[in-house]
Amino acid sequence: MGTRKVLVTGCSSGIGLALAVRLAKDKLRRFKVVATMRDLDKREALERAAGKSLNRSLEIRQLDATCEDSIRECVNSLSDRQVDVLVNNAGVGMIGPLECQNVSAMQELFNTNFFGLVRLVKELLPDMKRRQSGHIIVMGSVLGIQGLLFNDVYAASKFAVEGFCESLAVQAMKFNVKMTLVEPGPVVTEFEKKVYEEAEKMDLSETDEETARIFRQIYLKYSHEVFYSVGQTPKEVAEKTLQLIVSKNPPFRHQTNRLYRPLTAMKHADPTGHLPLDAFYKMIFQHDHMFNASLSILRILHRRMGAA
Ligand SMILES: NC(=O)c1ccc[n+]([C@@H]2O[C@H](COP(=O)([O-])OP(=O)(O)OC[C@H]3O[C@@H](n4cnc5c(N)ncnc54)[C@H](OP(=O)(O)O)[C@@H]3O)[C@@H](O)[C@H]2O)c1
Repeated sequence: MGTRKVLVTGCSSGIGLALAVRLAKDKLRRFKVVATMRDLDKREALERAAGKSLNRSLEIRQLDATCEDSIRECVNSLSDRQVDVLVNNAGVGMIGPLECQNVSAMQELFNTNFFGLVRLVKELLPDMKRRQSGHIIVMGSVLGIQGLLFNDVYAASKFAVEGFCESLAVQAMKFNVKMTLVEPGPVVTEFEKKVYEEAEKMDLSETDEETARIFRQIYLKYSHEVFYSVGQTPKEVAEKTLQLIVSKNPPFRHQTNRLYRPLTAMKHADPTGHLPLDAFYKMIFQHDHMFNASLSILRILHRRMGAA
């Protein structure tokens, strides 16, 4: 297989940046990377990380996932509009009690996390179908399989992504276009920082005292612990994604952090939904000592075997 052109969205930081750089620096020179970001003023970190690969195997372009014109302009600027692999990575987060979030912010989140993907696929899938080749890789999340307390809207956007991809994958297969959902657990990036900074400042006056207490004293405290204990690095997720890109027969789903697989497996083990609901309820509200102990064990396991 010759050099493949890979377009990655959301490369100003985190997983997108790490992946663009990892692909551009591939020793086997298998990729030409179109690393895109919505705001080119943020290009410095990527330029620094790309080093000598900049403007050789990696070029930076503007692309805002919420704007069809920006997507089209970016794709039209490529020779023959050729994109062999699309990595739809751009995404935003949101946590907190529902009563404290406004609907327009939720719609904005969906506009990026879900409709951003839809726009990119609408733009690129017809070309891929015509060429009878291509690979669409989508940065989903374990929260696209299993919901989580105070992540209602973010999880819903990632569930939407799952339903969209699952439905489209069969049609894509008919045209020899592959689809893969990458489903990380927690990854230590700007994403987590931005979401927690907003949560710390959040006005909780719209919710009741008990919900506010659960959010601040249980949820925020434990989720910091979880990120610290089992969070992957963007480089680890980038490495996994590269393996999926080069795989001859990539899976439709790949969870990057195997420590999370038991949590998502509960969902499939009990179609009534009782098992995961009970497990999460007990873990969060009844057995916080056990939860802390489990985290310590996970921390040790994570260090010993890596999260792969
Ligand atoms: N971090 C985690 O724990 C985690 C876990 C599972 C899945 N994920 C998913 O992984 C993906 C990458 O997240 P990350 O952790 O690497 O976070 P990150 O460091 O915050 O990166 C997110 C990227 O998306 C970009 N972006 C946001 N809105 C955009 C838009 N409208 N158009 C184009 N780019 C846009 C951001 O650009 P700006 O700098 O301009 O905002 C940034 O480059 C997301 O889809 C996220 O849902 C993350």
